[in-house]
Amino acid sequence: MYKEKLQDSQVWKELLNHYQENKGIHLREMFENSSRFNEFSIRDESIGLTFDYSKNLIDSKGFGILIELAKIAGIKEYAQKMFSGEKINWTEKRAVLHTALRNRSNKPIFVDGQDVMPQINAVLDKMKKFSSDLRSGKRLGATGKKITDIVNIGIGGSDLGPKMVCEALKFYADGPAAHFASNIDGADIYETLKKLNAETTLFIVASKTFTTLETITNALTARKWLVEKLGEKAVINHFAALSTNTQKVKEFGIDEQNMFEFWDLVGGRYSLWSAIGLSIACSLGFEKFKELLEGAHYIDEHFLNTPYEKNIPIIMALIGLWYNNFYKTSTYAVLPYSQYLHRFSAYLQQGDMESNGKTIDIDGQRVDYETGSILWGEPGTNGQHSFYQLIHQGAKLVPCDFIGFINPPERIGDHHEKLMANFFAQTEALAFGLNREQAVENLKKSGMPDDEIKKLAPHKVFEGNRPTNSFLFNELTPKTLGALIALYEHKIFAQGVLWRINSFDQWGVELGKVLAGVILKELKQESNNPHDCSTKNLIEIFNKKTDSRKLR
Ligand code: F6P
Repeated sequence: MYKEKLQDSQVWKELLNHYQENKGIHLREMFENSSRFNEFSIRDESIGLTFDYSKNLIDSKGFGILIELAKIAGIKEYAQKMFSGEKINWTEKRAVLHTALRNRSNKPIFVDGQDVMPQINAVLDKMKKFSSDLRSGKRLGATGKKITDIVNIGIGGSDLGPKMVCEALKFYADGPAAHFASNIDGADIYETLKKLNAETTLFIVASKTFTTLETITNALTARKWLVEKLGEKAVINHFAALSTNTQKVKEFGIDEQNMFEFWDLVGGRYSLWSAIGLSIACSLGFEKFKELLEGAHYIDEHFLNTPYEKNIPIIMALIGLWYNNFYKTSTYAVLPYSQYLHRFSAYLQQGDMESNGKTIDIDGQRVDYETGSILWGEPGTNGQHSFYQLIHQGAKLVPCDFIGFINPPERIGDHHEKLMANFFAQTEALAFGLNREQAVENLKKSGMPDDEIKKLAPHKVFEGNRPTNSFLFNELTPKTLGALIALYEHKIFAQGVLWRINSFDQWGVELGKVLAGVILKELKQESNNPHDCSTKNLIEIFNKKTDSRKLR
């Protein structure tokens, strides 16, 4: 599917030369060009976004070569294949159509000769009815009470997406309170149930496969809790399922009427746009969920139709590749200056690292270049008082994405100005730093004696030259959030094409699952413990401690 190995191409060699020749140039020098912002930023009025990538270690020539690389990789051609339903997930022989879920144009999309849009629209209609009946009180619990709380039980893509969105758009929430239980650690479901009244709670069991150990274990615990309180008959009123696996949903005892289907053409980490978004629709209302889809669809169109040079996800992908493969950075940070986005980096970790944490290329060969980066982050300004020290003065280069909003959902005193002052100050400080003369000057002003200044000055120097992207949206709405998520999804896609890997499978999570199944039997002492001496001893110590406990 992918073209030649880019790393052997002439363009790659040109990039390498360009990197060698220019790596010493400081952002301070690059900003001597006062039109740099105009050259390296994109303003999109329709979605209300300014994307400023001028504070990156890239000049016009380097940018031109990177764009050339994207063109020879054929990113837009492959995007077309994805959008039109070709089976680009080659290890699982599946189409990759999260974009169809938000295809607001409703143009037909064919997989194996069948248009997928009617089934997608049918599920959306069912979600609309279910969520509005629940919110209006038309749909009640078993004892006739209105549902006040919903609990999404899922993990990975069946948890991170809806949880992040419900948190991000909490300001707009006017439906039942949304809770999320994911971890197999009993503490998660225990602490969730503790706060709830069975009569007014709806459980949404979210699992693409409906076989995931964590989700099924938590769902069974929740079911037991409900049945103890309201009896077996109540299950029908208090459980819904989001899955591709009708058979397993039925076996669990969830009414088919309360099952919301999705399909193998939707990857778990790309599924918040599908039935997996039901908790979002219940909490915010279906109209808001639709706006979220619209925002993502807007970016889908942008990705498909905008020339490479102005294509935001492609530029994001190229900047990421530039640091990952040339500067050899191993991580990048995503730093939202919005408390509402406090789960955004955690959500993106699955999106990016489960998609591009691969080493085998399209030809079945192990790659001899770097692929997926490690993504991490926390909302500003909390991060500033924690790990920013390393980003400013550490020995490692950590490129960062700053995400901020011009208007807060609600003005509370001057909090927002103070928040955004930090956003702008951080990106400026990271880029331009503070040289020795400036540091000495500042210390002199404080009245410090010269001998002390001499010792302290090196510690007060900020080298700068630390790259950042800034995403400045007008405001945080369902539409802009949808757009933001889709920008990262397509960035990840574009990098997968550049690295010639399959961004849509996740075989790397399987081995641990299999071994856990084997070890569980040993913890229940139903079989031998034939492990390496480390694992063996740990299991034995654990088993001794639990000997006296009754395993339920
Ligand atoms: O183990 C990884 C994974 O398969 C993810 O890709 C997925 O999002 C998650 O588990 C949950 O899977 P499911 O929705 O089938 O329960």
